[in-house]
Amino acid sequence: MNTALKTALLIACAASASQASALQLDLDTRHPGAEIPSTMYGIFFEDINYGADGGLYAEKVKNRSFEFPAGLTGWSVAGDVVLHDTGGPFERNPRYVTLQPAVHPELHTMLENEGFFGIAFEAGKEYRFSLWARTDAPGAKLKAELVDPAANGETQIMAAGDITVDSRDWKRYEIMLRPDATVDKGRLRVFLCKPEAAVDVEHISLMPADTWKGRPDGMRADLAQRLADLRPGVFRFPGGCIVEGRTLDTRYNWKNTVGPVENRPLNENRWQSTFHHRFFPDYYQTYGLGFYEFFELSEDIGAEPLPIINVGLSCQYQNHADSCHIPVDSLGDYIQDALDLIEFANGPATSTWGAVRASMGHPEPFGLKFLGVGNEQWGPEYVSRLEPFVKAIRAAYPDIKIVGSSGPDSEGDKFDYLWPEMRRIGVDLVDEHFYRPEEWFLSQGARYDDYPRRGPKVFAGEYACHGRGYKRNHFNAALLEAAFMTGLERNADVVDMATYAPLFAHVEGWQWRPDLIWFDNLRSVPTSSYYVQQLYGLNRGTRVLRLTSAGKPVTGTDGLFASAVLDEPSGDYIVKAVNTTGSPAPLDIALKGLRKGKTPAEVVITTLHAGARDENSLDRPDVVKPVTTTATVASADWHTELPANTFAIYRFTSAK
Ligand code: AHR
Repeated sequence: MNTALKTALLIACAASASQASALQLDLDTRHPGAEIPSTMYGIFFEDINYGADGGLYAEKVKNRSFEFPAGLTGWSVAGDVVLHDTGGPFERNPRYVTLQPAVHPELHTMLENEGFFGIAFEAGKEYRFSLWARTDAPGAKLKAELVDPAANGETQIMAAGDITVDSRDWKRYEIMLRPDATVDKGRLRVFLCKPEAAVDVEHISLMPADTWKGRPDGMRADLAQRLADLRPGVFRFPGGCIVEGRTLDTRYNWKNTVGPVENRPLNENRWQSTFHHRFFPDYYQTYGLGFYEFFELSEDIGAEPLPIINVGLSCQYQNHADSCHIPVDSLGDYIQDALDLIEFANGPATSTWGAVRASMGHPEPFGLKFLGVGNEQWGPEYVSRLEPFVKAIRAAYPDIKIVGSSGPDSEGDKFDYLWPEMRRIGVDLVDEHFYRPEEWFLSQGARYDDYPRRGPKVFAGEYACHGRGYKRNHFNAALLEAAFMTGLERNADVVDMATYAPLFAHVEGWQWRPDLIWFDNLRSVPTSSYYVQQLYGLNRGTRVLRLTSAGKPVTGTDGLFASAVLDEPSGDYIVKAVNTTGSPAPLDIALKGLRKGKTPAEVVITTLHAGARDENSLDRPDVVKPVTTTATVASADWHTELPANTFAIYRFTSAK
């Protein structure tokens, strides 16, 4: 037999073998099932991995109010600089600094800020430099400079501007700086100009002008846009363990995060020391990104806000004595904080907390619907504290949906104890967390198929595939998350929300990985997991469709996972299929129950595929990326081949 004939025969045999072993998927188009909640796919934000200060919050100056325990952390000084512990213009951030004439005419008095892993700026862009100052010698001058300390040219100075301090009283001054070079590890310098006269300074800030929505004290536009691009339905904040703090004194107290930024008191960030092997002693929370900004961002990106509040427990991992927590009979202030938060979000502008919201620029209510009480809490100590919260919230705000916790584990004693307790207490949703390895995700395709349909709904509030021995943002982890998510979708009548965690990580400042979005001071990159979340978000649909093989849901047998939805506005049928095996999977997708003349004209196929350990990085951002093609659909039985190790979305577009 000649070679050409042999090859042709081999191809024919392979084609018929693949045809013969095709898996038939029956899609019932006639009987749409449960509604897919708009909140189904969302985002979880926590200030971990420098997610807020040094991340989403666009402030470039570290320790801008000199309130870090060591007041000059982040600052280098020259000449004569004096730090004062009290007496500044802001009651809750009382420190300030005096720049005094240097002792010798050839010396300069100067403050230099190192930023968060450097101060990055870009040629041609504008940066808003501001500070508060006063002087006994009105007319005294300061100079602000953006410098590249590593520059090898004639000058280190990439932008400069002068400020004349003209008042004996504290006053805010602002200038725009326009660098003529792009620098990733720059510095900000503030000089006292000659002839020198002492000037007091406080709250020294440097913000890009092009923040998200152009808000003067806003967010990094590129990072906020990444969030918007996910099309999230719910936005959970501010965590995470940060809700609990390392101790109750360092818990997240939302009331400290609203009002003028200059007067929001500093808090420790518990992630500075959570892991000895990833230790960041200069990690604090300025709360420049606070609850008002979180609500506003939720509104901007079309997601329901879901704040989580402290339930009177400090981190249970780190605090074992009862005395570390608030006694059940002393929870009054904590419960009031919860009620006040609802008023802050929803109350009229004439109410006490509604007025605070209005004074910040949002007289209209934010329309808060959900509130999480406690983060990842467990045990009777949680249940006994949750109950009085639920009682008080129900009495004052019966429409607010309350989220309780099922603890830190996806199953086991804590989980088994808490779920019945959550039912008994009558919370509306139960937050489940699972950072689990590959085999767990592969085994959980049917996790929710048998969950009780009455009682609280599920909020898969923190999850990510943590590769065994390889905990990175590699493609295989994302593939298994996609597989698991078919089970969320199929069970949209019991699962209301799901949020991958954590969200952001600075490449030089992370404590926890994997994460959804990595960034440095100039760039950001979506991970494979980001694309999985985004593909679900873009193809959420509105109603579950029954998708079966031999009458059963496709939940991982032979490594295949699948689910389907109808998108009512477009009439599209959307099938999601995940092949976690190393071999291609021939599929026959049978669109059952189509009305006459309603056979879809074409199918838009989006696939995500890469090598198991492939991952995107800032320097190689496109290693893993969705690819979209289209194919015609000739009949209600459509044949395709789902490649090995691939997440595919088949979007059947209805005949118009
Ligand atoms: O997402 C990181 C941490 O994981 C969260 O802060 C906490 O809730 C969980 O333990």
